[in-house]
Amino acid sequence: MLVSKMIKFGIIGCGSISGIHAAAIQKIEGAKITACCDINIEKGLIFASRNQCQYYYDYQELLASDVDIVTIATPHFLHKEMVLAALQAEKHVICEKPMAVTIEEANEIIKATADSDCLYAVCFQNRFNPSFIELKHLIDGEQLGHLKGLKCELTWKRNKEYYQSAKWKGSWEKEGGGVLINQAIHTLDAISWLIEQPTRVKGKIMTSLLEDVIEVEDAAMATAQMADGVPVVIFASNDYSSDPTPLMTFDFEEGLVELTMNDLRIDGNLIKSSGNSQEEGKKDVWGDGHQRFYRAFVNQLKGIEDPLIPLLAHADAKNALELLTRIYQSNATNKWELVSEI
Ligand SMILES: NC(=O)c1ccc[n+]([C@@H]2O[C@H](COP(=O)([O-])OP(=O)(O)OC[C@H]3O[C@@H](n4cnc5c(N)ncnc54)[C@H](O)[C@@H]3O)[C@@H](O)[C@H]2O)c1
Repeated sequence: MLVSKMIKFGIIGCGSISGIHAAAIQKIEGAKITACCDINIEKGLIFASRNQCQYYYDYQELLASDVDIVTIATPHFLHKEMVLAALQAEKHVICEKPMAVTIEEANEIIKATADSDCLYAVCFQNRFNPSFIELKHLIDGEQLGHLKGLKCELTWKRNKEYYQSAKWKGSWEKEGGGVLINQAIHTLDAISWLIEQPTRVKGKIMTSLLEDVIEVEDAAMATAQMADGVPVVIFASNDYSSDPTPLMTFDFEEGLVELTMNDLRIDGNLIKSSGNSQEEGKKDVWGDGHQRFYRAFVNQLKGIEDPLIPLLAHADAKNALELLTRIYQSNATNKWELVSEI
């Protein structure tokens, strides 16, 4: 599909994260938001007024407009339906995480993208953090030696007010899970993106502080293993008092590597820092990768060379969904579950 000179974006879902997408698009030369859609008319009209674009109530009408790229920022259970419809309408697609709520849905999307000439990417913007890019570079250059173990920790605050602010959150049917599929999914993505997909996992989930509020898990613990037996310890909770940066600790032969949203440290020495503030309570936990993510997507579309293009998540976005799905299954079976890799 040919892209018009000025790239036109349409955004479906004008909720919490939509402003981050809008800000990222506005910084891209030769791109603008021309359309938005939300079934919440008030939110849609506010977004349209802020971004000087056309508002649609029905996303099919937005897809029938002349937008080139559609950003999908709606509740999880709508991702598959909207991605397939956008590809059908010959639009390039950026979809928020998770790729879908089930592996079967993810497979349908992968098939549709393979059959389409349009570009598709899932918003795993943390891959674009300078600290993540630097670590990927060191790992791919085999500069850190053998990995002996990996520890992944995320402790955030998603309380009653958070869940009551959007009815789809906290439901198995509409969110597809809790802390694993919504908050920790970026960390799960980083495991396979930086190292490899684990081959098996045993895990437990629970609903603790929020048991009267949500049906999904607010805390999860899992042990996964790589093919060569390397342990991957995962801990995630939405029951903490604030939103400190998620931490991944890699026990490499050549040093102990600590990766956060902003910083990369090896044996305590700061190797890379993006210098962003991580004030408690602010949404800095979303990182500043959206801008680089969007730029890479648009550059790929325009055929402009950009070293960050390979960071875009396509079908491989399924790996994180696969891993967390197997944790949910293991919780039910109380057994190790095999994890496959895309
Ligand atoms: N990448 C990140 O770091 C990050 C951060 C936050 C949220 N997200 C993702 O962004 C997505 C949206 O999350 P949110 O927190 O903004 O949710 P939200 O509930 O604040 O916003 C979702 C919006 O979608 C609208 N919507 C629902 N059904 C619709 C329909 N049929 N057509 C059009 N609009 C519809 C809702 O009215 C709402 O305004 C989720 O997938 C979430 O996981 C990603």
